[in-house]
Amino acid sequence: MKLSWISLAIASVFVVVVGCTPPAEPSGSTTGTDPAPPKSTDGSKMATVDFEKDVKPGLVSFCTPCHAGAEPQEGLDVTKLTGSEKASFAKMGKVVEAGEMPPEKSKQPTAEERAKLAEQLKALSG
Ligand code: HEC
Repeated sequence: MKLSWISLAIASVFVVVVGCTPPAEPSGSTTGTDPAPPKSTDGSKMATVDFEKDVKPGLVSFCTPCHAGAEPQEGLDVTKLTGSEKASFAKMGKVVEAGEMPPEKSKQPTAEERAKLAEQLKALSG
């Protein structure tokens, strides 16, 4: 009789200990779901280029010396673009990628900035 009380006590301690352990595991495995979200971000990164946020700052910084103001070169005023000028973006992407714009004598983007800008301009060209 006495022995079964002890084993019952031991058994209940086990239940408490074991019962407490599982919650730790699911919380550990939720970190395993982390790699999933970046996948969807990657997919939308290519599809949506935000003109105002991603592209305009680069154009303003490298192109406004000549493509803005009262008499913009080629009639291209980069500050007036809204993000829907597909034909302009196609042309701009081409000359930026080819290294023709900005012209040699003006401030140059780094190779990385140039590649990114060209890629985003091409994405906007539809
Ligand atoms: C130092 C002045 C200057 C800067 C800075 C400049 N451009 Fe130009 N851009 C010109 C001139 C001058 C022309 C016209 C003559 C020519 O094509 O070289 C021109 C022409 C262009 C054309 C028309 C090309 C064609 O073949 O019809 C595009 C597109 C263009 N620029 C885009 C850009 C972009 C995008 C930037 C910024 C990344 C930029 N430019 C920066 C001076 C500039």
